[in-house]
Amino acid sequence: MERFRTREYPPVSTLLLLLLLTFSFAAAASNQSPIKTIVILVLENRSLDHMLGWMKKSINPSINGVTGKECNPVSTQTPQSQSICFTDNAEFVDQDPGHSFEAVQEQVFGSSLIPSMSGFVEQALTMSSNLSDTVMKGFEPKSVPIYASLVHEFAIFDRWFSSIPGPIQPNRLFVYSAMSPTGYPQKTIFDSLHENGLDFGIYFQNIPTTLFYRNLRKLKYIFKFHQFDLKFKKHAREGKLPSLTVIEPKYFDLKGLPANDDHPSHDVANGQKLVKEVYETLRSSPQWNQTLLVITYDEHGGFFDHVKTPYVNVPNPDGNTGPAPYFFKFDRLGVRVPTIMVSPWIKKGTVISGPNGPTPDSEFEHSSIPATIKKMFNLSSNFLTHRDAWAGTFEQVVGELTSPRTDCPEVLPDVAPLRRTESKEEDKLSEFQSEVVHLPAVLNGDHFLSSFPDEMTNNMSVKEAHDYVKGAVFRFIRASKEAIKLGLDESAIVDMRSSLTTRSTTLRH
Ligand SMILES: *[C@@H]1O[C@H](CO)[C@@H](O)[C@H](O)[C@H]1NC(C)=O
Ligand SMILES: *[C@@H]1O[C@H](CO)[C@@H](O)[C@H](O)[C@H]1NC(C)=O
Ligand SMILES: *[C@@H]1O[C@H](CO)[C@@H](O)[C@H](O)[C@H]1NC(C)=O
Ligand SMILES: *[C@@H]1O[C@H](CO)[C@@H](O)[C@H](O)[C@H]1NC(C)=O
Ligand SMILES: *[C@@H]1O[C@H](CO)[C@@H](O)[C@H](O)[C@H]1NC(C)=O
Repeated sequence: MERFRTREYPPVSTLLLLLLLTFSFAAAASNQSPIKTIVILVLENRSLDHMLGWMKKSINPSINGVTGKECNPVSTQTPQSQSICFTDNAEFVDQDPGHSFEAVQEQVFGSSLIPSMSGFVEQALTMSSNLSDTVMKGFEPKSVPIYASLVHEFAIFDRWFSSIPGPIQPNRLFVYSAMSPTGYPQKTIFDSLHENGLDFGIYFQNIPTTLFYRNLRKLKYIFKFHQFDLKFKKHAREGKLPSLTVIEPKYFDLKGLPANDDHPSHDVANGQKLVKEVYETLRSSPQWNQTLLVITYDEHGGFFDHVKTPYVNVPNPDGNTGPAPYFFKFDRLGVRVPTIMVSPWIKKGTVISGPNGPTPDSEFEHSSIPATIKKMFNLSSNFLTHRDAWAGTFEQVVGELTSPRTDCPEVLPDVAPLRRTESKEEDKLSEFQSEVVHLPAVLNGDHFLSSFPDEMTNNMSVKEAHDYVKGAVFRFIRASKEAIKLGLDESAIVDMRSSLTTRSTTLRH
């Protein structure tokens, strides 16, 4: 089976071909990747069919997308019941579909024993009568114009799964540590890069969720955290983007500063604008010819996808199991998510499905990112867990050309907003935003307070949470820099004492 499919390569003259062959032998001999900078952007909670499924019809028929014949019954117990089929009129979604472990289990299995992808409608109906329509809708390519351009010009991976069939923070964690959550003391790909003398940088907007990893709070890493608005374009222009460049979106939706993480109910037009900004910045950077941009989604967010989730021979990463009552063994993957890769070393119109190994059952999933970074940068560090040792690697996506393309667009199309209303910054926090607030509470020392976490997060509006988070991250980074000046050991982590008494006024109003 040919799993690596690309569009036809344009003819070249014999002389040029000879030159290219010589060049490729040289490249093969040294076995060096042309890529020196990998840029990662992880957005949230959308399935592949929902975001990109309709691109099969209008952009590239080799994509494993949708035709409109994909349907789910209203009841999986009664197969003759009415069903709802996939349509192309996705729009602004006001309600967040289900994505707890139980909800995903029901979506994927319905009432069968193997993943039948038949329970999305039934599960949505348990939440609200109108949500069942929402989860069976995909965007027309013109509603996500940036992705339409990138899929046309570069590569789509149409068989890439989230690492676990459940909530978000665990999935984000797999991207950098290939591991299930156990308090997050684990080794990460950032540590492996550091051990090998390579640099990394986190460019964040509201909060770097990568600080959930305890290791990343060490003093030696504090200068790796940069404010996206101040530093990303500057570093790109100066050719100073580090070997691993992570971009974190805005998770809080404020008036004038809308969230751009694509999490429902946030407007995906803002995610499109972020991707456009990142692409155009990289395209005009002196580092462009050695850059690979990876865009993916932590999980499917409850939206339908038709590809059966892999459940055979998926290794548990580290021997841990999930909490009662399921004691999940982390031995099957989550739902397929959109993954797009961009580089001048990628052939136009590339579609990549499964990987070539390392085992016959290996798949692309979030742990493919650390696995590929290890391979491309020839890191001498061990694999992080059993999972990244198993996951497919994607270095071949930049391995087909012998010189970088010169025809990549410099500018992507403009993006029109899909949402017609203002941000609801006075709203209570979503489940995910409450989780995000736990992090600064830990950084700040507020998690020792008796009001943590329920009273604190239950009463916060989105705007208050945003201000709290920003303040906490700022104070943590400032205190860490002061500790460095005082000569503290580089592996130390600053522990802040709660100062909620002095900040309670700003918190409450
Ligand atoms: C969907 O239903 C919920 C209640 O079940 C309601 O609050 C919401 O406004 C409805 N949305 C639409 C678009 O009809
Ligand atoms: C989506 O966001 C919710 C938070 O709102 C989070 O709990 C969930 O784990 C995320 N993932 C998805 C898919 O929701
Ligand atoms: C990238 O490589 C192409 C082809 O060799 C060259 O024309 C272009 O100037 C290079 N761009 C940069 C930014 O180095
Ligand atoms: C990769 O690293 C090993 C040492 O860890 C070295 O022997 C080898 O030559 C390196 N390969 C490349 C292609 O740089
Ligand atoms: C939080 O809300 C509860 C009830 O909704 C209220 O009793 C409590 O005083 C509030 N706490 C703060 C700190 O505003």
